Amino acid sequence: MAAWFLVVFSVLFSLSSANVQSKVTDNPADQLVTTLNANRTAHKEPALFDNPGLACIALQYIKAYQGSCDEVGGPDAKKPPDSDFAETFAPNCGVLASSLSPITGRLLGCQSKYLGPSEAFSEILMTKDKSLEILYNKNHTQVGVAVSGSDGGSPYFWCILFSGGKTNTSFVLEGGVAKVSRPGCFSGANDDCNGARDWSRTPPTWTLAVGALIALVYAVGL
Ligand SMILES: *[C@@H]1O[C@H](CO)[C@@H](O)[C@H](O)[C@H]1NC(C)=O
Ligand SMILES: *[C@@H]1O[C@H](CO)[C@@H](O)[C@H](O)[C@H]1NC(C)=O
Ligand SMILES: *[C@@H]1O[C@H](CO)[C@@H](O)[C@H](O)[C@H]1NC(C)=O
Repeated sequence: MAAWFLVVFSVLFSLSSANVQSKVTDNPADQLVTTLNANRTAHKEPALFDNPGLACIALQYIKAYQGSCDEVGGPDAKKPPDSDFAETFAPNCGVLASSLSPITGRLLGCQSKYLGPSEAFSEILMTKDKSLEILYNKNHTQVGVAVSGSDGGSPYFWCILFSGGKTNTSFVLEGGVAKVSRPGCFSGANDDCNGARDWSRTPPTWTLAVGALIALVYAVGL
């Protein structure tokens, strides 16, 4: 009975939300962009263009960590070399190397437990001292967001890349289409991707055993 009610309710809810927000896809990365832009506009900064080429690169950025959460923040923090953008990330996404633009900010978070986009934003990504400064930086014109678990499970990574490039001449996709790769979701491509939500339903047993939320964040202006 309760389950039946929930099904009816969620169908009604998805129908009504589909009517209101036809552009927002069932994709946690798109939802994080919506949260981020709402926060910027509340702070009188313009909303950023959601660039699928940049977002695909954000997913490659996550993949460079190969699931090593402890390399995101803390004493063992590492970041991929900048040369990876042109040599690996852009070709993997079908982004024209000639259209790469400077990155004006990066926020990267990794945590053991899956959190939804708005919780990941406020409880993980915005927790560093520099996070707000990066979020409100006036040099950004566009953003790309990605989320992925390693092999579809814990730990979960979120990556936000900001750029100051011209919105329709930077991170240009060959043929105009993003190369969708799984596991992981990225923003801006009108791609339904609810993989992250499915992962959260079946947490690996070790996360249950640990219980606590382990979260590491990396925030850098350039
Ligand atoms: C924007 O995000 C920051 C960090 O999570 C939060 O403190 C602030 O209240 C948010 N602002 C709005 C208007 O939601
Ligand atoms: C914006 O970019 C200019 C030129 O690169 C730089 O001098 C300035 O510090 C940047 N502003 C911020 C807030 O990062
Ligand atoms: C690029 O963006 C500008 C401003 O948003 C727009 O006026 C122009 O038509 C766009 N160019 C192309 C090729 O889409």
